[in-house]
Amino acid sequence: MHTPVLKEEILQFLDIKPNQNFIDCTAGEGGHTLAILEKNGPKGKVLAIDRDIRNISLVEDKAKGAGFKDRLVAVNGSYVDLASIVKKNNFNNISGIVFDLGLSSWHIDDSGRGFTFTKNEFLDMRYSTENGITAWEIVNYWSEEDISFILFNYGEENMAKKIAKEIVDVRKINKINKADELSDIVYRITKSRKASARVFQALRIAVNDELENISRVLPVAFDLLEQNGKLVAISFHSLEDRIVKSFFKEISDNAEILTKKPIVPSIKELKNNLRSRSAKLRILIKTKQ
Ligand SMILES: C[S@@+](CC[C@H](N)C(=O)[O-])C[C@H]1O[C@@H](n2cnc3c(N)ncnc32)[C@H](O)[C@@H]1O
Repeated sequence: MHTPVLKEEILQFLDIKPNQNFIDCTAGEGGHTLAILEKNGPKGKVLAIDRDIRNISLVEDKAKGAGFKDRLVAVNGSYVDLASIVKKNNFNNISGIVFDLGLSSWHIDDSGRGFTFTKNEFLDMRYSTENGITAWEIVNYWSEEDISFILFNYGEENMAKKIAKEIVDVRKINKINKADELSDIVYRITKSRKASARVFQALRIAVNDELENISRVLPVAFDLLEQNGKLVAISFHSLEDRIVKSFFKEISDNAEILTKKPIVPSIKELKNNLRSRSAKLRILIKTKQ
C-alpha cells in the first residue's frame, strides 16, 4: 500500500474548510484525496485524476468504503488534460490543486510493469497501459544517441554514453526484454546498482513524458485556482523540483510562495516511509486572478 508523503504538512498548509473543492491530479492510492475528503465535508468535493485505471478504481472503492462516494469525482486520464477534465465535470470554485509526482508504491511492488530493476518483469513502465511507447521499445529500438540523451538528461547518469553503447551492442544479438536483464547490462558497465536506479528513472520519465507534462500543466492549474487557492507540488527528483521552482518564480507577482525552501519529510516520516526520502514539497497561494 502507498503511504501518502508529507500528508500532515499538506493538510496544514491547505487549511481545509468545510465545503471547499480540491483537485488531486495524481490520486495514486488515494492517500491525499481521502485525507482531504475527511476535512471538506459536508459538501466539498475532490476531483481525483490518475492516469492508471487500477489506481483510480481503487480510490473510488476507498471513497465508497469511507462514505465519501458522492463527494468524489474520479477521472481516469492525464492531468495534462486538466482544463478539459475540469470543464467536462463542471468542477468550479477550486480552493487547491495537489500534485504528488511520479509513481505509486503499487507500481513498484505489484504492477508487474518493470518499474524496478530488481525484478524479472517485462520492460513496460507506462502508467496507462492503453497507449504510449514502452520502455522496451526505447531500449530495443531507439538510437544510441537518443538513449544516451535520456540517460544523461533524465537520469543524470554520467556513464550514459557507455551504457547506451552496451545496450545497442547487446540488442543486436537478443532483444532486451526484462528489467533485471537491463539492470545486469548497466551493472556490467558501471559496477553500480545505483546506476540502474538512475537508468530506470530516466526510462520511466521518457516513457510517461513526465517532465513535459508537469511543465505544461502548472500554468493551467494556476489559472484554474480561485483567488487565495493553493497549488501544492511534491517532486521526487531534482529535475521535477527545478521545473516547479522555476514556475513558482515566474508567477511570483501573482502569488505568495508559502515554502521559501522546499519542505522535506521529518525524521519520523523517513523512519516510517523510506520511499519519502527524496520528496520536496512546494506550495503557493494565488493572490491575483
Ligand atoms: C506518487 S503517486 C500518488 C500517490 C497519492 N498521492 C497517494 O497518496 O496515494 C503518483 C500517481 O500519479 C499518477 N500519474 C503519473 N503521471 C500522471 C499524469 N500525467 N496524469 C495523471 N496521473 C498521473 C501515477 O499513475 C501514480 O498513481
